[in-house]
Amino acid sequence: MKGEWGEWNRLHDLMKNYHDNYEAEFNRIYDAADKQVAAADDKNFRYFIHDAIGLEENLRLHQTTEDQMFAELAVRMPELSEGHQAEHKAIDAGLDQYVAYLEAVRTKTRAYDPAQLRAIMDGLREVLFTHMAHELESLHAATLQQHWTLDEVRKFPF
Ligand SMILES: [Fe+2]
Ligand SMILES: [Fe+2]
Repeated sequence: MKGEWGEWNRLHDLMKNYHDNYEAEFNRIYDAADKQVAAADDKNFRYFIHDAIGLEENLRLHQTTEDQMFAELAVRMPELSEGHQAEHKAIDAGLDQYVAYLEAVRTKTRAYDPAQLRAIMDGLREVLFTHMAHELESLHAATLQQHWTLDEVRKFPF
């Protein structure tokens, strides 16, 4: 999208790209969860666990980056202050559970059970997808216009 609206919506569009990728990756892992055979020498299974842990790492990095980026914006935007932080914390708790399970399976401390992984992911999906939708609303042009000028938006360091 060109023109001023595109400039206003730049952050939103950038974030939407990230979120769409996380959502696709999340769904891919969820769908693949019950197609895995946890044989000790199964390369595919080890790739699957590696991939699933990769999603956790990417989401943590995304949130850490946002916590830094949004600190400046949150001064003027209630949309990005306490409520936003609380949602990040809820996702962190879900990710703790998710990665603890995957690490236990990876180190063979626990037997792999797709139903168990999916139950953990169901809980994570709830907080993660809701948060990603909230965040896109907060970064939408219409929301930014309530708090900033276009010139200020152009000068955001991201
Ligand atoms: Fe985000
Ligand atoms: Fe976020």
